[in-house]
Amino acid sequence: MDPRLQLRVQRYGWDAAAQYYQDSWSAQLKPAQDSLLAMAGLEPGMNVLETACGTGMLTFAAAQAVGESGHILATDMSGKMIEKIAQLANQNNVTNISFARMGAENLDVEDNSFDIALCALGLMYVPDPRLALSEMARAVKPGGKVVATIWGERRNCGWADIFPIIDAQATSEVCPMFFASGAPGIFAADFAASGLGDIQEHRQSEFLKFADGDTLDQAVIMGGPFAMAVKRFDEETLLQVRREFMASVAKFKNNDGSYAIPGEFVTVSGIMAN
Ligand SMILES: C[S@@+](CC[C@H](N)C(=O)[O-])C[C@H]1O[C@@H](n2cnc3c(N)ncnc32)[C@H](O)[C@@H]1O
Repeated sequence: MDPRLQLRVQRYGWDAAAQYYQDSWSAQLKPAQDSLLAMAGLEPGMNVLETACGTGMLTFAAAQAVGESGHILATDMSGKMIEKIAQLANQNNVTNISFARMGAENLDVEDNSFDIALCALGLMYVPDPRLALSEMARAVKPGGKVVATIWGERRNCGWADIFPIIDAQATSEVCPMFFASGAPGIFAADFAASGLGDIQEHRQSEFLKFADGDTLDQAVIMGGPFAMAVKRFDEETLLQVRREFMASVAKFKNNDGSYAIPGEFVTVSGIMAN
């Protein structure tokens, strides 16, 4: 897939998802974001760069950890996500975060200027994740840390049939490389290829819980990168997509109508050489 097309599909897909994303995903993604924060070991006063910040689920926790003497530069390619996170910061009087719309592969930041660079659940969407990691590595000071989380292996993510279901109806694939680095050792190898050392890999399996089919539908179909692709489907096609997706996750439905769908996450950290 042409990387420029992939960037456009992602940018406008996430713009369309911004209004649903946080409410749909905050509980399900928290265990992975918590692992990232634990591996990051943020301390008061640190200067932090974040790639693909979304609505700030990780950002606000990081801002609290670094305190008033620290600072977060939160970046994302989606203008709507940046609007949303800035609005939330304003509402909650959080003053130690600044925001910028930036693509992960081309960060407009100085070399060696951050203590740590973070990215939660963003690098599966980037055409060249190693380039994005190299950008994060470039931005941190010698001895600084890069920590990122992605989804794990396709076979361990029970909702993954949504990709072929949407792709069968869309004019271009939405996430061609989504699981490319999810198998053991691959994301760690991406870190090594991006100039990072002392690499640690943490894998975790979770159940993603959704109260009912409507909440699950909203999260997966409207609250993620497919949001733009589905806007172009006619009513019949959208209904068909919804039916096929619900059939693909029927085995994870509980008697009370709620869902518990397996998901795997991988968090890797690496250090920039002195
Ligand atoms: C699943 S959300 C993760 C948001 C947040 N980090 C979190 O943990 O909730 C993925 C984010 O990646 C962003 N994204 C996708 N492709 C990107 C790219 N090439 N550069 C920067 N951000 C990108 C999207 O706009 C979206 O906000």
